[in-house]
Amino acid sequence: MCGIVGYTGLRDAYPIVIKGLKRLEYRGYDSTGVALMSDTLRVYKKMGKVASLEEITLGKELGGNTGIGHTRWATHGEPSDRNAHPHLSASGKLAMIHNGIIENYGQLKQELINKGYQLKSDTDTEVLLNFIEEIKNNNACSLEEAIRIALKRVTGTYVILLIDSEMPDTIIAARKGSPLVIGIGKGEHFLGSDASPMLEYTKEVVYVNDYELAIVKPQELILKNLGNERLTPYVQKLDIELAAIEKGGYEHFMLKEIFEQPKTIFDCLRGRLHADTGTITLSGIEQYSKALQKANRIVMIACGTSWHAGLTAEYIFEECCRLNVEVEYASEFRYRNPVIHPGDIILAISQSGETADTLVAIENAKAKGAIILGVVNVVGSSIARMSHAGAYTHAGPEIGVASTKAFTAQLAVLTMIAFKIGQLRNTISQERLSALLHELEAIPAKVEKILSYVEPIKKIAKQYAQARDFLYLGRGYNFPVALEGALKLKEISYIHAEGYPAAEMKHGPIALVDEQLPVVVVATRDSYHEKVLSNMQEIKARKGRVIGIITEEDTAALELCEAALHVPAADEMLAPMLNVIPLQLLAYYIGVEKGCDVDKPRNLAKSVTVE
Ligand code: M6R
Repeated sequence: MCGIVGYTGLRDAYPIVIKGLKRLEYRGYDSTGVALMSDTLRVYKKMGKVASLEEITLGKELGGNTGIGHTRWATHGEPSDRNAHPHLSASGKLAMIHNGIIENYGQLKQELINKGYQLKSDTDTEVLLNFIEEIKNNNACSLEEAIRIALKRVTGTYVILLIDSEMPDTIIAARKGSPLVIGIGKGEHFLGSDASPMLEYTKEVVYVNDYELAIVKPQELILKNLGNERLTPYVQKLDIELAAIEKGGYEHFMLKEIFEQPKTIFDCLRGRLHADTGTITLSGIEQYSKALQKANRIVMIACGTSWHAGLTAEYIFEECCRLNVEVEYASEFRYRNPVIHPGDIILAISQSGETADTLVAIENAKAKGAIILGVVNVVGSSIARMSHAGAYTHAGPEIGVASTKAFTAQLAVLTMIAFKIGQLRNTISQERLSALLHELEAIPAKVEKILSYVEPIKKIAKQYAQARDFLYLGRGYNFPVALEGALKLKEISYIHAEGYPAAEMKHGPIALVDEQLPVVVVATRDSYHEKVLSNMQEIKARKGRVIGIITEEDTAALELCEAALHVPAADEMLAPMLNVIPLQLLAYYIGVEKGCDVDKPRNLAKSVTVE
């Protein structure tokens, strides 16, 4: 949550910082602000999105070759101008932006108040900033030293960027638990929560690690640990093109990302799936082949949509690998005292690779001797780096806050991992595996076909957009698909939606069914088909409005639907990758119909880097 940007060099900082903030708005958009350093230190900030900041800076003095900027997802203090970052220290000499949460800010705040400080905002950030300045003044030390001393007292997570008006071309940055990337230019440096703000200027980046501090000047990048020892920055080459983070003619990133899925699934399978030889190559996890062969238990940890991918994979793993599989919300797992045995496999699933709960859950499991395999989209992200091994999903940057292409890519990777383990353990026959691999290879083309049915989906979206609630039902492999469909609708259109296992309906949710309630039933042909058709009958009998996700030419299912969305036939194990597509589109078009900001739904942020 929260996006941070910084620049120091010879160019004007403001346009670079503003452009960077627009790219990072997916991380939060409660307020935006910049601090610019030229002869004086100037701060402009405003509640709302970057566009609101641009309005208030029109005609203002915006010069300066050093600048920092922030787009906020509020934690401490409501979204307001007052609580917007950057914050200024009591002396007005330091400006700071922060992503994360200072957990012991209450205690630090009290110390400052006892010393006579008067704080202007409700944020933990302003507390930390003044705490740093207080240490600097008291100890007559450098800002760098004051930051080091302060951070040793801090509990919580942070990326902070500071400008000191006494060091006009320097940005000091530090990180723990929130992401920070530094781009290396020629006589200039860029800072960001991810690499998107620096893509058009440089491909050379350094990912700063926890407990590291960076002193960034135009010509120099000094990296140190909190013990003041100098570290050698590890420079990596970015493999992302600018076009990947632009809308490319689509009205929204979400729509672009939905339509990218034939390609992203294909990219994810490429070089890994060999249907002709009946094999899977996942070089990232090959080194753990023995451990995977012998494992008794796999625990998947994730949040949100990634958790739904894990839940779908649970069915596939059980079927193919005959293993104990547990799927856990990372946010719950991290606070339990889970039984982990050395050699247990933890599969951490995350698009961003930065989700705070997933990160801590991994840390805990790692400390207990588990082997951590990451299924991550963002290359070089914290989870990717913290995992022992893993497989990237290769879906490319996902910018729409609602996850779409990352989900199908996660399913593709998890399916391949399950097939690989099944083969290693001999729990799946070569004949069945070969058939599945051919089917998997055909998935991108089938997704393409579904995407050509967009007109009927738009019509259905119009027809149902005014409903107050939705129920989503599915069984077996399609139960997590129902959960994911409901989550997409909630996020994008603010309509209350619940996902449920179809057969559980009669244990409670059936009480909700009346002539007003749209019930989306994922009812494609699989081993539960007849049972799900019976559930549809039960809804119809109570006048519920059934919207079916059904297999092409399934007339029996079609008869039970008030509206239907068709998908090509597929093996039930692979069907979720298809069945979720019409649900993504339905949520998208209902959101658009209702005039919602589908790329930036209220209260949400793309990377949940606070717990
Ligand atoms: O980046 P991650 O996959 O770890 O994120 C997990 C969730 O925050 C994420 O899936 C969230 O639920 C999305 N908004 C879903 O569309």
